[in-house]
Amino acid sequence: MLIEVKNIKKSYPLDGLKLNILKGISLEIGAGEFVAIMGPSGSGKSTLMNILGCLDQPTSGTYYLDGIDVNKLDADGLADIRNRKIGFVFQGFNLLSRTTALENVELPMVYAGIPAAERREKAVKALQKVGLKERMYHQPNQLSGGQQQRVAIARAIVNEAPIIFADEPTGNLDSKMSLEIMDLFTRLNKDLGRTIILVTHEEDIARFADRVIKIVDGEIHSDEKVIK
Ligand SMILES: Nc1ncnc2c1ncn2[C@@H]1O[C@H](COP(=O)(O)OP(=O)(O)O)[C@@H](O)[C@H]1O
Ligand SMILES: [Mg+2]
Repeated sequence: MLIEVKNIKKSYPLDGLKLNILKGISLEIGAGEFVAIMGPSGSGKSTLMNILGCLDQPTSGTYYLDGIDVNKLDADGLADIRNRKIGFVFQGFNLLSRTTALENVELPMVYAGIPAAERREKAVKALQKVGLKERMYHQPNQLSGGQQQRVAIARAIVNEAPIIFADEPTGNLDSKMSLEIMDLFTRLNKDLGRTIILVTHEEDIARFADRVIKIVDGEIHSDEKVIK
């Protein structure tokens, strides 16, 4: 199993009390799966995703990512595992403004210490994969929302990370652009074998995945294969 989570809980202190957000989540996700996490607003989807993406740690419970005990890692260890294994895509694209698509895609490789020439070559290839090579010198404000999200996806795949986490990636896009983005995720999964874990509250979007996990009030409510 690529992801093995057992009885994960997350709570925050609130006025001397404990606010329980995740109440004991257990799940397994294999390499190459395409999973959608659904649930109402405030149910804990992003909290779970941030833990799975090694951006945050649970209050209790265990998390093994590709056999690594994530709870034992310090900040450097978490950063390292994110660099090597994980790409993120967010609702708001999170691109640097006044910076070209190419430079935005190169950024994770700057952190990873990859030499400039290799960075450029890989960034161009990643932009080509998302169909944006012709726009590589454009800045975010010169691109449509869908194109900006494709730049963000190129940035997520450029390190050849095997896992992509996407939190409401179509939340700021109209339905046509949303379908384009979902087609792209489907290709990354089916053709390039990337594991994709995508948070959405839209049924239409979740149906692109092969498996839908529903979270309600910090607990898994259902976990089902998508019948296509
Ligand atoms: N850092 C935090 N401190 C306190 N409460 C938080 C924090 N982060 C999230 N929460 C609360 O946890 C709940 C779940 O949030 P979240 O995981 O973002 O939900 P979702 O992504 O499903 O909308 C919300 O009620 C939110 O207010
Ligand atoms: Mg959220």
